[in-house]
Amino acid sequence: MATKTKTTEAATLPLNQILAGDCIEVMRSLPASSVDLIFADPPYNLQLRGDLHRPDNSRVDAVDDHWDQFSSFASYDQFTREWLAAARRLLKPNGAIWVIGSYHNIFRVGAALQDQGFWILNDVVWRKSNPMPNFKGKRLTNAHETLIWASKQEASKYTFNYEALKALNEGVQMRSDWVIPICTGHERLKDEHGDKAHPTQKPEALLHRVMVATTNPGDVVLDPFFGTGTTGAVAKMLGRDFIGIEREESYRKVAAERLARVRRFDASALEVSGSKRAEPRVPFGQLVERGMLRPGEELYSMNQRHKAKVRADGTLIGHEVKGSIHQVGAALEGAPSCNGWTYWCYKREGKMIPIDILRQQIRAEMEDPRPN
Ligand SMILES: C[S@@+](CC[C@H](N)C(=O)[O-])C[C@H]1O[C@@H](n2cnc3c(N)ncnc32)[C@H](O)[C@@H]1O
Repeated sequence: MATKTKTTEAATLPLNQILAGDCIEVMRSLPASSVDLIFADPPYNLQLRGDLHRPDNSRVDAVDDHWDQFSSFASYDQFTREWLAAARRLLKPNGAIWVIGSYHNIFRVGAALQDQGFWILNDVVWRKSNPMPNFKGKRLTNAHETLIWASKQEASKYTFNYEALKALNEGVQMRSDWVIPICTGHERLKDEHGDKAHPTQKPEALLHRVMVATTNPGDVVLDPFFGTGTTGAVAKMLGRDFIGIEREESYRKVAAERLARVRRFDASALEVSGSKRAEPRVPFGQLVERGMLRPGEELYSMNQRHKAKVRADGTLIGHEVKGSIHQVGAALEGAPSCNGWTYWCYKREGKMIPIDILRQQIRAEMEDPRPN
C-alpha cells in the first residue's frame, strides 16, 4: 500500500506510515478529529520481580522490557491519562477506541477512559486457546486478556457491523468472549537469531475481528503502540488506512518489513454484510398507505396460531388487542417483545407471505429509484 496523505480542515494526516517517537507527543502533533478508530495495546506495567523459570529450569521469555517499566501505579496512571487524552482529541466525533490489557493494567485503563468522557460499549474477553501454563502452580493459568471498546462520547454514532459479525459467527449473534489462539507459528515474527522479534505480538485474527466489527473500508485506524505492526498489517489487508506510532527503532524496522510483505485482499471481498440498523426505516403504515395491504385485511402469525386485522392507521387489532405489529404480536404470544416484521404474514392465493417482503420491496425502490 502506498503511503498517502489525507488533508483535513486543519492539517495533513500521514497515512500508512510508521511514525517514530513518543506516542503522546506524536498524537499531539496530528490534526484533531481526524481518525475513525484507535486500537491501543499499551505497556502492561507487569511489575515482574526477577526471572521466571520453567520446571526444566529454562528461562521464560517474559515481558521485562524497559518500555514496560513504570516506577509506581501513580506514574502509570499519569502516562495512561496523557496518552488517552491525546488519543481522544484525534478521534472524530463518532470515533471509537479499543484498548487491550491484562489484569495488571486494564482496570486502571478502564477507570481513566470513563474519567475522560469515553463511553464504554463492551468489554471483550479474549480467551487464549493455547495459553502459557502457570509454571509455579501458585495461581490460576492466566488464559485471557481483556479488551475495552469505547466510543468517544455517549452520543457518538459509532460503527458496529452487527450483521457482519453474525455472519462471521455462522449466523449466531457474536458474543463478548472470543476464543482465539495466541500468535505462534509462521505468524510470529523472529529476529536474526530465531528469537521472538517482540514479546507481545498480537494475533492477526484478533485485529481482523475488531476491524470487521467496528470499521469500514477506507477508515483511518491509528495504533499508538504499534510494536510489530499487527494493526497496520490487518488494516492493509482489509483496505483500511493506518497510522502507526512506535518509539523503538528495532520494532519499527520489523513492522516496516512485515507491512511490505502484506497484500491487500481483493476489493470486492472487503464489503461486509451491512447493518440492518443502517437500512432505511419503513413504518408498517406505509404498506397500508401504498395499498400493499388493505385496511380490514387479515394477517396471520408465522406459527398460524393467531390472526389480526390491519387498520387504516397502520395498527393491528386482534383478540381485543390493539397496537403496532410488534405490540399485538407480543401480546398474543404473551412475550415481552416481538419483531412484527418477521412474525406476521399475509395470504395471497392461499400462500402465507411474510410482511417483511413488502418492506424489502419498498427499501429496494428507495435504493434504486426508477423513472416514472
Ligand atoms: C504491548 S506492545 C504492542 C504490540 C503490538 N500490538 C503488536 O502486535 O506487535 C507495546 C509497544 O508500545 C511501544 N511503546 C511503549 N511506550 C511507548 C510510547 N510512549 N510511545 C510509543 N511507543 C511506545 C513499545 O515499544 C511496544 O512495542
